[in-house]
Amino acid sequence: MGKFYITTPIYYVNANPHIGHAYTQIAVDTLARYHRMLGDEVFFLTGTDEHGEKIEEACLKAGFKKGEEKKFVDTIVPGFQKAWKALDIEYDDFIRTTDKEHEKEVQDFLQKMYDNGDIYQGEYDGWFCTPCETFWTDTQSKDGICPECKRPLERIKEKNYFFKMSKYQKWLVDHINENPEFVMPDFRRNEVMGFLKEELNDLCISRPKDRMAWGIELPFDKDYVVYVWYDALINYTSGPRKNKKFEKFWPADFHMIAKDIVRHHAVYWPIMLKSAGVDLPKTVFAHGWWKMGEEKMSKSKGNIVDPLELVKKYGVDPLRYFMLKAISLGMDGSFTEDALVTMYNSDLANDLGNLLNRTLTMVEKYFEGASPEEPGDVDDVRQKELSNELHSIAEQTFHWVDEYLVNPKLLLKEALESIMLAVGRANKYIEESAPWEHSKKGNIKAIKLIILDLLEVLRITAICVSPFIPSTAAEIWRQIGFGEMFKDAEKRQIADEIMKEVQERKDKAVWKGFPPGIKVAKGEPLFMRIK
Ligand code: MSP
Repeated sequence: MGKFYITTPIYYVNANPHIGHAYTQIAVDTLARYHRMLGDEVFFLTGTDEHGEKIEEACLKAGFKKGEEKKFVDTIVPGFQKAWKALDIEYDDFIRTTDKEHEKEVQDFLQKMYDNGDIYQGEYDGWFCTPCETFWTDTQSKDGICPECKRPLERIKEKNYFFKMSKYQKWLVDHINENPEFVMPDFRRNEVMGFLKEELNDLCISRPKDRMAWGIELPFDKDYVVYVWYDALINYTSGPRKNKKFEKFWPADFHMIAKDIVRHHAVYWPIMLKSAGVDLPKTVFAHGWWKMGEEKMSKSKGNIVDPLELVKKYGVDPLRYFMLKAISLGMDGSFTEDALVTMYNSDLANDLGNLLNRTLTMVEKYFEGASPEEPGDVDDVRQKELSNELHSIAEQTFHWVDEYLVNPKLLLKEALESIMLAVGRANKYIEESAPWEHSKKGNIKAIKLIILDLLEVLRITAICVSPFIPSTAAEIWRQIGFGEMFKDAEKRQIADEIMKEVQERKDKAVWKGFPPGIKVAKGEPLFMRIK
């Protein structure tokens, strides 16, 4: 047991969130829940990025005036909070870059860098892309088109402040070589190392207020505000500081981001931290993009899918499950509702939902709705073999989930696959064991064995899926008899002890044998098939 600090990017508040943003939230929430389950002290930070030219533009477009930016962002932020609630995202703090504590942290940070002699004034003559909030040099963009988003750039010539990034370039290369887990997955690290082969330009980190005043004032020159990316990255330290948790939680364990903002997180951010004398985060993990066809899903392209609509239509857990299982974290994926429906029907309705439903139906049919006692010796050798095989698969499940989720490769899809392997095996076990045949022969011991096996698989499954699909896990837990509806104090205690033991990882979600006499609470099917 230890501490676990994980972050999402803070999102621009120029429009409502789409499923690309939802994806980052769901992945981070799953990891945070997993670490809570292990007994780690978790700090999960998310929030909104509210300053800069892009937001000012959106503000004016929405009919607000210059100077009314805060009023504008206040209308957008609740949309993010509402979406995260609907997606069952359990964060510990929601930071806004307009928070007073954050503004102070940014100014303190800048002052330190200034005092270190890493910031100087100079003339900026180059290109700027507002949608990307990024400067480009003439060599990077010969034709006045943004190399990243391919939109026309603006030419800018003005006095500004610069940060001496090149001073730390060699140090950063050494750091990454010595700590390969600093940038994950591996292929993203290779990209960053490729980028670091070229000499870094010093970064322009200010905007003159007479051109753009929506930002945090530089502590050493009140005619300027700080460049929005500088302001935004510092949320990762100001968040825990605001909560008086900096000493405990910094450095961050994971900064989860998508691939478009790797350079900011794996180059600018560590250099900023080094200059200010702060330790570096352990891992910057970049996942891929959700696309529509071949195009990245984005507000500006207008090809977005609203996560709230999907939640309304299919429920929150099917969306969480689909997003995490459809692509390996790190790769791109194309979103289609058909693929969601197919996975919903096959994995959730047919496999998981059916296993619960069939098992509980048999508990009712053969044992009046309560789990049977241990059967003692079962004579049927084949049945015993089938049972042993199921044990060994189910027993491995938690082991694999653990292996995959604590691995810095963050194999979330693979973890779900290993859980579903046990679920699939359990469904097959019903077919192969054919309890209805044992019933005809009056072989009650065999039926007891089968039912206890199935309930135990469901118990292990509920624990293993709980970080991914928390409300489904709770519902399985409730239906197999360990829920709040469980009144009997003594039996309730058995259930709590099992859960506690697993959470403390004494012996993980091992095969313990499902306790006898637990009254199940068969409810509605978990997932209704979609035609
Ligand atoms: N405000 C900056 C981040 C500052 S972090 C210190 C920003 N914001 S953003 O609103 O554009 O959101 C970026 C993040 O949203 C990505 O890193 C990713 O987490 C998520 N995604 C946005 N579009 C996405 C997809 N189409 N697919 C997957 N994730 C996407 O950049």
